[in-house]
Amino acid sequence: MRLKENPDQMTARAIAARWGLEIHCKVAETKRADIYKTTSPQGSAALKLYKKIGASGEGAAIQFMRDLPPNVGPRIYRINFLRTAVLMEWLEGHTIENLVASNDDCGAMKHLATTANAIGAANFKYQFIYKRVIPKLQRKFATYLARSNETMSVELKQAMRHLDHLVKTTTKERVVHGDLHFGNIILTPEGPRMIDPKGLRCDPAFEFAKSICRPFGEIPPDDFAARTKKRAEICAADNDFDPSRIIQWAVVRFAPRTFHQPDKNTNSHALRPYLKTLLDLTEGALS
Ligand SMILES: Nc1ncnc2c1ncn2[C@@H]1O[C@H](COP(=O)(O)OP(=O)(O)OP(=O)(O)O)[C@@H](O)[C@H]1O
Ligand SMILES: [Mg+2]
Repeated sequence: MRLKENPDQMTARAIAARWGLEIHCKVAETKRADIYKTTSPQGSAALKLYKKIGASGEGAAIQFMRDLPPNVGPRIYRINFLRTAVLMEWLEGHTIENLVASNDDCGAMKHLATTANAIGAANFKYQFIYKRVIPKLQRKFATYLARSNETMSVELKQAMRHLDHLVKTTTKERVVHGDLHFGNIILTPEGPRMIDPKGLRCDPAFEFAKSICRPFGEIPPDDFAARTKKRAEICAADNDFDPSRIIQWAVVRFAPRTFHQPDKNTNSHALRPYLKTLLDLTEGALS
């Protein structure tokens, strides 16, 4: 008797049959997708199966990978009509989260900066398909302002001033990965390569904002300050912006998260000391 398959396995099996794949194992299962290691007619491949239509980023993520020069991300082999199944080159190696975990923070950050800069140098044909980050962030802050006007903290107001300043001083926008962090960079024998992009359009310094903070929570705020400063310096080294600009973007990304539940007792929120630390690091950046 055949064992019962769950619907996910059935989809993977149907796609495998259609595309001539041999599925070896499921390598990751996330909220949005399942990822399988396969052998395909093109060679070793990763099959990413999204759980919902539209989850692959309405096409921007896939176009982004297609426009990248070789060796920056995986080659895209096949996509189904609904864009819920993507077959891409298998990248050999581990994510650079491993380096961070083994205390090679500097090494991880350099690989991340190399990857971001290679993306920055790429030529994206259809700029207009990539969503702009700034309007979304402005809407987010406007919602927070409307929801918590009376009790809104000093930090949230400060973060809004940073956003205004960044908007006013953004002179050029470019296409960025949009979710660049250590878990989305695989260190292959040929060097670092990115996976899992969003494909967004914004100020180049924005790209680094997420990774200079992560992972937080397990590190005392003083060490967090030193680590963040050092990381921002590495990221800015080959760019024409100041490290403090990256930290300002980190403030803007981090503040809504810190005050995600403005009706609750935000004073005791665990993330708040880290936001305060970021704000201290950007002192003087608004003048
Ligand atoms: N092309 C690839 N080559 C090798 N391994 C891959 C590849 N794509 C994904 N993986 C593996 O699968 C894991 C998860 O992949 P990915 O980052 O695309 O999804 P996610 O971030 O978990 O999901 P989501 O799309 O919901 O953000 C990676 O950490 C990596 O181990
Ligand atoms: Mg990922």
